[in-house]
Amino acid sequence: MRAAQQKVNPFFINGESGLLTSQFKKQLAEKFGERVRFDVPMARHTYFRVGGPADAMAMPADIRELKDLIGLVEQAGVDWFVLGGGTNLLVKDKGIRGVVVSLEKGFSAIETVESSTDRVLVRAGAGAGLSALCRYALENNLAGMNFAVGIPGTVGGAVVMNAGTRQGSMESVLAAIDVLNAPDVTVTIPAKSLSFTYRSLKWDRSVIGKSDREPIVLAGLFGLIPADGREQAAEARRMRELRRQSQPAGFSAGCAFKNPSADMPAARLIDHAGLKGMRIGDAQVSEIHANFIVNLGGANAADILRLMEKVREKVFIAHGVELEPEIITVGEQ
Ligand code: EPU
Repeated sequence: MRAAQQKVNPFFINGESGLLTSQFKKQLAEKFGERVRFDVPMARHTYFRVGGPADAMAMPADIRELKDLIGLVEQAGVDWFVLGGGTNLLVKDKGIRGVVVSLEKGFSAIETVESSTDRVLVRAGAGAGLSALCRYALENNLAGMNFAVGIPGTVGGAVVMNAGTRQGSMESVLAAIDVLNAPDVTVTIPAKSLSFTYRSLKWDRSVIGKSDREPIVLAGLFGLIPADGREQAAEARRMRELRRQSQPAGFSAGCAFKNPSADMPAARLIDHAGLKGMRIGDAQVSEIHANFIVNLGGANAADILRLMEKVREKVFIAHGVELEPEIITVGEQ
């Protein structure tokens, strides 16, 4: 594992980088048919709408195919990483060397697995939309997911990022997760064995064992509470409206920086440094919410990265605080 990569990419990339050989591409094509594509523009797969091509993107249909895929790429010593919804991700302009794994096709089922009068356990696949899980909870009169209403992205991405809002985060509702551990062992890890921190999940050695790569999240098991459906729906509407009013709707990757602390939100620091509306190319500090960087249409990753750096510099000068990016950056510049 390369430390520098792990720092920027909690999804962990394994192996050596480099262009895919034609033999390896042939192997992938034979195995995955239309579920693998080559030279895939990542701008189409990220909410920022920027990013160069990934050498390959594979969409395994089930756990067997996922295991085969990981076996194949690791044997070939090719880099890989798991894409969530691309909602918190900045892919650099030269794209991604290696294989991007998408779980959105084969791992998106949502089902109730256990039910009692005071708790309902819902299993949602890593590739399911977080919004689909919120909807499922509302349709089944379950409380617990409303904190996430309006957060885009997938369940898997949300677990790894410990996605959340002021009203709660994934750790507050997860009972357990299913993961694929190296080399091909699936395990269920109870939430109490997971170390969630603000906007991230740290993998303890005691949980992942000797594996030299991080597990792949396959599903989340959510402990939800039976509740009054109408009240839940009304709360969800309020949450959605609040978000609509306070956050920009354009191309962005959500909040650009972590809040240094609850009483020192990044947005306030950026706003008070007078940076709303600041632009580099078509990358702009949102006029609506200062902790959002928006792509006005023609930005590239370099513009966004330069703007983020400028924001960090100016906030440091104005407030003496170093902002830490919440957005994950991957790929080659
Ligand atoms: N503020 C400004 N200027 C602005 C925006 C906000 O001064 O342009 C100040 C306001 O005083 C406000 C404070 O900053 O009271 C905090 O703003 P807000 O209530 O919008 O919340 P936030 O801390 O900026 C957090 C999460 C959001 C989540 C919202 C709502 C982080 C970094 N951000 O934002 O999550 O949607 O609460 O619960 O934790 C994300 O993680 O991608 C994200 C958008």
